[in-house]
Amino acid sequence: MAKENPVPSIPQHVAIIMDGNGRWAQKHHLPRLSGHEAGRKSVKEVVQAAIHHGVRYLTLYAFSVENWQRPREEVQGLMGLLRGVLRDELKEMGEQGIRLRMIGRKQDLPEAVREELEAAMENTLGNTKLDLILALSYGSRVEITEAVQAVAREVKAGSLDPEAIREKTVSDHLYTREIPDPDLLIRTSGEMRISNFMLWQISYAEIHVTPVLWPDFGKKEFALALADYAGRERRFGGV
Ligand code: IPE
Ligand code: IPE
Ligand code: MG
Repeated sequence: MAKENPVPSIPQHVAIIMDGNGRWAQKHHLPRLSGHEAGRKSVKEVVQAAIHHGVRYLTLYAFSVENWQRPREEVQGLMGLLRGVLRDELKEMGEQGIRLRMIGRKQDLPEAVREELEAAMENTLGNTKLDLILALSYGSRVEITEAVQAVAREVKAGSLDPEAIREKTVSDHLYTREIPDPDLLIRTSGEMRISNFMLWQISYAEIHVTPVLWPDFGKKEFALALADYAGRERRFGGV
């Protein structure tokens, strides 16, 4: 008798570490920023593919807290690019039923980016087709540290009993509160590491690493990742 698959074959939440823009640019003898610009097309294509396949949450790791250490020119270029994406794609996103959200240290972002971001999040608040979550100035350890601070404050104020702290207390204080954990984590460009991304949330995520560089990643590669996921047997510690 065929074994019944207890989990749906389409992941509810896909998270992607979009890596390899720099290597793509190098391969094409272009400046690094051209690689980031080329990655924009992949973002658009993957968002469409996610909607097409019925994925409900898509998180894109676009900029880490560690990425602020990159050369000023590259950081400025990335922020400008981000602002452009938010400004140019917003209308279409709204029409397609996409809700834009963000996780990360919003306060670190340049004012102009923050404003575009806040407007985009506000304008798409009621949309329910796809939650597109951008990880910006995101770091998992700082996220957990801030959660610990918030919990400690509640204990100190007397509104929380330390004995009553549960896993849910922790997850409710993360940037991802109200967002289910990723079922599938994709990393492009072949690197076998997590790079400070969603350490708490990916406890039981299935991991798909592809050698394809982010600017070359599109709907075909996304479908391959989903097929890989559908073939996995998720056990969650059971038998
Ligand atoms: C990923 O591409 C985009 C960001 C981290 C902002 P990279 O810029 O890290 O590309 P590689 O890893 O140098 O190829
Ligand atoms: C991870 O990529 C961060 C993003 C994709 C935004 P990095 O290129 O920054 O990570 P490392 O340096 O390879 O670990
Ligand atoms: Mg990289």
